[in-house]
Amino acid sequence: MANIVIVGTQWGDEGKGKIVDLLAEHADYVVRFQGGNNAGHTMVVAGEQFISHLVPSGILQGKTCFIGNGMVVDPEVLLEEIDYLQKKGIAVGPNKLRISERAHLIMPYHKAIDLAREQMKGAQKIGTTGRGIGPCYEDKVARRGLRFIDLLDQDEFQEKLKVNLEEKNFYLQNFLQSKPLDPMEIIQQYQKMAERLAPYVDNISVTLYDGIRTGRRVMFEGAQGTHLDIDHGTYPFVTSSNTVSGNAACGAGIGPKELNGILGIVKAYTTRVGSGPFVTELFDEIGDRIQKKGAEFGATTGRKRRCGWLDVVMLRNASRLNGLTGLVITKLDVLGGLETLKICTGYDYNGTRLSDFPNSLKVLAACKPIYETLPGWSEDISGIRSYKDLPESTRAYLQRIEVLTETPIDIISVGPGRDETMILKNPFTTK
Ligand code: GDP
Ligand code: IMO
Ligand code: MG
Repeated sequence: MANIVIVGTQWGDEGKGKIVDLLAEHADYVVRFQGGNNAGHTMVVAGEQFISHLVPSGILQGKTCFIGNGMVVDPEVLLEEIDYLQKKGIAVGPNKLRISERAHLIMPYHKAIDLAREQMKGAQKIGTTGRGIGPCYEDKVARRGLRFIDLLDQDEFQEKLKVNLEEKNFYLQNFLQSKPLDPMEIIQQYQKMAERLAPYVDNISVTLYDGIRTGRRVMFEGAQGTHLDIDHGTYPFVTSSNTVSGNAACGAGIGPKELNGILGIVKAYTTRVGSGPFVTELFDEIGDRIQKKGAEFGATTGRKRRCGWLDVVMLRNASRLNGLTGLVITKLDVLGGLETLKICTGYDYNGTRLSDFPNSLKVLAACKPIYETLPGWSEDISGIRSYKDLPESTRAYLQRIEVLTETPIDIISVGPGRDETMILKNPFTTK
């Protein structure tokens, strides 16, 4: 298959970065199509760890990377990331990284609003990453956002910024009891960054279209996860973009017929950062053990991730919403050493069994997990590279996931390293 979309099936942090880095070997282009630096994607190559927030994870394999129109970009963070990667010896020049003219800019007032609002909400907070993601997407939809194309036109930029800031400062001061921002400071700061970023800015829809027509293979790197999707997730405890595969087309500026395969990344258990219902959440020593063994700390905010058993109701939802052609199971090694494992196959809502993920948050919050129990394995599987060498109970766990989700498993990951992987079916090289 020529073009592959990678999406998270749960609440983010499934290991998308590792899988994109691994499969980038077979791609020519790697595109991020939504989200911003709320994402934290971790790659480990030859023992060295890399974390990317904005630059697509294909950069480590030397592929041409694209920041799509669907993204919201904090230019300060982007420049820091370019410097960080360059210091590590990774080429991130304008020939390797292209930024859509239509991508939106995260402005200082977006971050100030995000943080002040969360503080004001107290216990009701969403638990955002505080990076200004929501307020920036709000402005995009309200048709007052600033985009890279404006950044390159200083008159346009200054005019729009001044209009926006008048309203934002009023809101910050009078509603959020926060400090107002100085337009001249922002203009100077953004002008400096515009000079450095100008060579990267491009009409990427055209570049991608031309590339696809001449046989380039494209990988689309999703951020967050299906259940953080603005439409399909656990609203309002979601992010502010569409994280599902359909948005790969819209957020990159290509037609949906170019999306040939869609891989859903599944952590072998479930985690969540931030607030919101979580049916299979564990509050006992097993949850603690998974959190510690899986090193479940946010790659962006360093927050401890909430942990729980695998939830197949969520996975079936993700398979349908994304049109998944295959699954990638990650962090399977973390489950080693547990006597028994549980898989949630349905929800008990006041005595009624639900097999579909409910749309009402109230209903979801009242659901209790219905579990199937499977035997665990005591072996350390992180050194295994062949499916047939996995313990029988590990294979039984994987087979059960395939049956329950009605989706085949294409790749199994047993460690953070690029090589700690079993590829059963390579989506780029098989039909
Ligand atoms: P992403 O946001 O989906 O890219 O995932 P993150 O990078 O935020 O979180 C996944 C974490 O798990 C990272 O620290 C990875 O290095 C690590 N990881 C990925 N796959 C595996 C695996 O199979 N086993 C283990 N033990 N760690 C993994
Ligand atoms: P990756 O790409 C996990 C969560 C936040 C919060 C909610 C809204 O690394 O998987 P936002 O700042 O987006 O307005 O926060 O979404 N969140 C993530 N959780 N992984 C992510 O990205 C996330 N990006 C946002 O914790 O609950
Ligand atoms: Mg992450």
